[in-house]
Amino acid sequence: MRFHRTTIATAIATFVSLTFAQSEGNTMLPGAAAAAAASSASTYSCDTNVCKLANGCVCASKNPPNGLSPSDTPQFVTVTFDDSIQPQLYKTAKRMLNVTNPNGCSGRGTWYVSMQYTDFSLVQQWYSSGNEIADHTFSHVGTPSDQEIMSCKEMLNTYGGVPNGKIQGFRAPFLNYTKETLNHLSKLGFLYDSSSSALQDDAYWPYTLDYGMANDCWTGICGAGQTKLPGLWEIPMYAVLDNISTPQLMDVYISGQPEDVTKWSLDTFNKHYNGGRQPFGIYVHPTHLTGYPGLPDPAPKLDGLVSLIKTLSEKPDVWFVTNQQLLQWMKNPVKASELGKQDYMRCEQPVIAKEICNGLDDDNNGNVDDGLLNSCNFGTTTFNTCFNCPSTAPTLDTPKPANTAQAGSAGFRYPLPNDCDTKWWDPIGNACLCTSTECQYKDTAVPVNRTAGGNGVASNGSGSSSDANSILNNQLENVFLITVALVATLFL
Ligand SMILES: *[C@@H]1O[C@H](CO)[C@@H](O)[C@H](O)[C@H]1NC(C)=O
Ligand SMILES: *[C@@H]1O[C@H](CO)[C@@H](O)[C@H](O)[C@H]1NC(C)=O
Ligand SMILES: *[C@@H]1O[C@H](CO)[C@@H](O)[C@H](O)[C@H]1NC(C)=O
Ligand SMILES: *[C@@H]1O[C@H](CO)[C@@H](O)[C@H](O)[C@H]1NC(C)=O
Ligand SMILES: *[C@@H]1O[C@H](CO)[C@@H](O)[C@H](O)[C@H]1NC(C)=O
Repeated sequence: MRFHRTTIATAIATFVSLTFAQSEGNTMLPGAAAAAAASSASTYSCDTNVCKLANGCVCASKNPPNGLSPSDTPQFVTVTFDDSIQPQLYKTAKRMLNVTNPNGCSGRGTWYVSMQYTDFSLVQQWYSSGNEIADHTFSHVGTPSDQEIMSCKEMLNTYGGVPNGKIQGFRAPFLNYTKETLNHLSKLGFLYDSSSSALQDDAYWPYTLDYGMANDCWTGICGAGQTKLPGLWEIPMYAVLDNISTPQLMDVYISGQPEDVTKWSLDTFNKHYNGGRQPFGIYVHPTHLTGYPGLPDPAPKLDGLVSLIKTLSEKPDVWFVTNQQLLQWMKNPVKASELGKQDYMRCEQPVIAKEICNGLDDDNNGNVDDGLLNSCNFGTTTFNTCFNCPSTAPTLDTPKPANTAQAGSAGFRYPLPNDCDTKWWDPIGNACLCTSTECQYKDTAVPVNRTAGGNGVASNGSGSSSDANSILNNQLENVFLITVALVATLFL
């Protein structure tokens, strides 16, 4: 790696890259590549006569579920983002997901959010525009405690307004999980983990852990007496093979020029696409792809990824989905031609006559949550939220400190109740604006034009993208803050 010693910030950035590269899976963990060859020696065994989808059980398999033929199977692509959500990072993510699915809805992605330096108003915007928010611990630690997992979830709900029932996924920081991590997730009611690596032979579709893990077997996690957690799903992360057949997992763009990365990625994608149609993943840390003053320009890397994603989106039957959407399909697999009609694949924005603080541009004036955000400042920690500011900075032990405003007093924000979706909740008016099944939505699908597959008919050509306006606000104004945030990634 080249090392420009021009500024302290450069050194920090280099270190950040190395940190991620080595510890969060850019190159496989030591032993993994060698062990990959031997992964057939896995002790995983699952009897498809016993483990049936009808009972919520799915064995690890490289073939599509329920006997679907690959040619009828949608090719899912999951784009995931890790760590804090900040304005510039949000912009990077939106640029990457600027594609349309065959049903005319915007491509969706999943963000594994850690708490420090996260702007919770953007958590809400990400969720409200149809993307997934998932748990990446409070302080970004490997082999996390229950508390690390739960403090994160509580804050995503309290300050980001993500309904508790919609925070279903987890990824271990540094991809460093153990059977205890999976036990915690099961006990805490999570739907899935996505921390394991799929190299080649173990590029399985998502599966339930009724019969334990089938990936990362080189660590011993697949062995007898290890994890068996009925109903908890594992969504493996699919590695890309580089030009010397080293599996690259996260942040593949660190390891080669954009044209190399594109080639490696397309080669692996095509193996899935022309094989068992296993999902394909693009896993990034948006900090690497976001420009900061004084640092090397990441634009070529980002442009390369944006163009790779665009290329994939032009293939028939390719769908950009959240991990939750992927699992919704796994639970009831339908042909690609039926996918666009499924409720979970639709894109609809509530019709609300005035601007409320819900992560959307309700009055269509180009600004999300116009003038309604609270700004919470605690020295180095600053975030915006539609909800109450805590009186002190949240900590691992106290993720929800007492509010600054008291219930009933002016300025109090009413927390999201469990029976209302964020998009319809007015935290200032204390009202759920949708209390029946009759609530009015506008379809935000756009016309599409795919060459084959016959599934490219948009449900409604009159809408506009619900995602387009959500990033126009909230630029980070000051370099100091940016630098603080960047330094912070060392510890995240
Ligand atoms: C999305 O793509 C369109 C056309 O390709 C472009 O005009 C627009 O600026 C892009 N939006 C973002 C957020 O990158
Ligand atoms: C990963 O987990 C192991 C086992 O708990 C621990 O010893 C190691 O320090 C962790 N590494 C990181 C980077 O969290
Ligand atoms: C593989 O790709 C890397 C990074 O793009 C390049 O530096 C290297 O020369 C290539 N090696 C081979 C054997 O093609
Ligand atoms: C499309 O949406 C518009 C407004 O959202 C609505 O008026 C129209 O009836 C819809 N068309 C179809 C075919 O659903
Ligand atoms: C859509 O498809 C038609 C015919 O297949 C083609 O003429 C047209 O250029 C396409 N439009 C776009 C925007 O790709």
